[in-house]
Amino acid sequence: MEELPSETPIDPREFRIVRLGVDPWPEVLRRFFDRQDEEDRSGYFLGEALLSELKWVDVAEYYGLFRPKGPGLVGFLGAWFVDGEAEIHHIFLDPSWRRKGLGKAFLRRFMEYAAKRRVVSLYLEVRRSSHIARSLYRRLGFVETGERKNYYSCPLEDAILMGCRLPEERAAPSADGVSLTMEGSLHEGFDAGKSLRTGEPRILR
Ligand SMILES: CC(C)(COP(=O)(O)OP(=O)(O)OC[C@H]1O[C@@H](n2cnc3c(N)ncnc32)[C@H](O)[C@@H]1OP(=O)(O)O)[C@@H](O)C(=O)NCCC(=O)NCCS
Repeated sequence: MEELPSETPIDPREFRIVRLGVDPWPEVLRRFFDRQDEEDRSGYFLGEALLSELKWVDVAEYYGLFRPKGPGLVGFLGAWFVDGEAEIHHIFLDPSWRRKGLGKAFLRRFMEYAAKRRVVSLYLEVRRSSHIARSLYRRLGFVETGERKNYYSCPLEDAILMGCRLPEERAAPSADGVSLTMEGSLHEGFDAGKSLRTGEPRILR
């Protein structure tokens, strides 16, 4: 896979966000999984069970981060929406594309989208050892709310539960939750901190 040298600045205009639920994307995602190493495939559940979630369009939304000029799909994010809550099930970038600001921009775009969908609470679980992911979540206003002992297998590890309350003023009263989509350019969400105010993190109960 093409890898940019770390000193090469990322141009967010080169990235698009695509909904992964319809052809050809499930197959593209399958091939993306095949390119990942075994440790990541098992540690982040990159397999058939996840691919089957793409069909549960009533609750599950999966989005890919796509770079048309190469190498194609560089990562994905998936969440379940239930009433005013959403649970982020996955956020994963190809290792070649990590630590360049993409994960933060992608998640920020998702949070803006979720707020427009009138989501007020976001939840997720993360491995205790995933320090970069935990730091990313804290940067965007998530707080740690609990833990589950030995929750993950392969390898066995505790889960840290995290939550974030989205600012309610972002949930536009006229927003049509059905027709909204997160698809589009990553560009809009790239400049951290300017377009989304998560407010003071609050402990979720
Ligand atoms: C977690 C993940 C999506 C983050 O995406 P990323 O593009 O690598 O992260 P970014 O470059 O956008 O950095 C976002 C934040 O992560 C943290 N971070 C990044 N690199 C870090 C490092 N070397 N050490 C500590 N924290 C780091 C920082 O808080 C950073 O925010 P900042 O730049 O404002 O300081 C990505 O690393 C990934 O796919 N990891 C493997 C899968 C995973 O762990 N998923 C989470 C499962 S719940």
